[in-house]
Amino acid sequence: MPRKPLIAANWKMHKTSAEVRSFMSAVWPKVSDITDREMLICPPFPYIPLVDELRKSTSILLGAQNLYFEEKGAFTGEVSPPMLKDLGCEYVIIGHSERRGIFGESDELINSKMHAVIKCGIIPVLCVGERKEEREKNLTEQIILKQLEKNLKDLPETAFEKMVIAYEPIWAIGTGLNASTKDAHDAIALIREFIHSKYGDNSAQKTRILYGGSVKPENMKSYMDQEGIDGALVGGASLDPDSYSKLVKY
Ligand code: 13P
Repeated sequence: MPRKPLIAANWKMHKTSAEVRSFMSAVWPKVSDITDREMLICPPFPYIPLVDELRKSTSILLGAQNLYFEEKGAFTGEVSPPMLKDLGCEYVIIGHSERRGIFGESDELINSKMHAVIKCGIIPVLCVGERKEEREKNLTEQIILKQLEKNLKDLPETAFEKMVIAYEPIWAIGTGLNASTKDAHDAIALIREFIHSKYGDNSAQKTRILYGGSVKPENMKSYMDQEGIDGALVGGASLDPDSYSKLVKY
């Protein structure tokens, strides 16, 4: 079975409820004819129920941008996997570079989150990628492999039935400096090869691997034309319904 392309919108800390409503009502008429691609929207936590309500009778998938790995307890400000499941989330972004960088998330914490979501039946969108200085020192491959090794540690092979991994080079996020198609292709091939070597061919064939970092309607197709790139994780260009629908219709 070929992997269905996934166009994932990471809204980060953007939008009000009025803006969520206006996005959702504008976007669906533009993309409702699309059946061979999947659309995923990851709003900020407070708008998860609203997006869930407004996506009824659409094929839009719902995800969160983060979570904590414990099921419940004294963890002020945190949100658990069962809570996300309860709210209808099918996906959750884990290990975004903004979580790693701004909020100091370690590879070990990210690994605990991966275990927790797999256990709960939510599909992770694991983000990996190198910083500018690391790329300049030719450390890109080493960094990606280290993140994969630590973030996927001890996961069962069954976790790869529906896994999503996003290659997001940090220097490309929100900068307009998108990675070249060759660099994106090579990083994604490296990720697939890692999964192949550790978890077997079936896992490697099933895992969807996305590119993220300054994806725009103008460059989307050039990534999708690359062998092995299964979609995009998009920040800025996913906020506007017109732009998001163009990404979906690349
Ligand atoms: P931009 O598309 O704004 O560069 O953000 C990418 C990203 O971080 C998606 O998770």
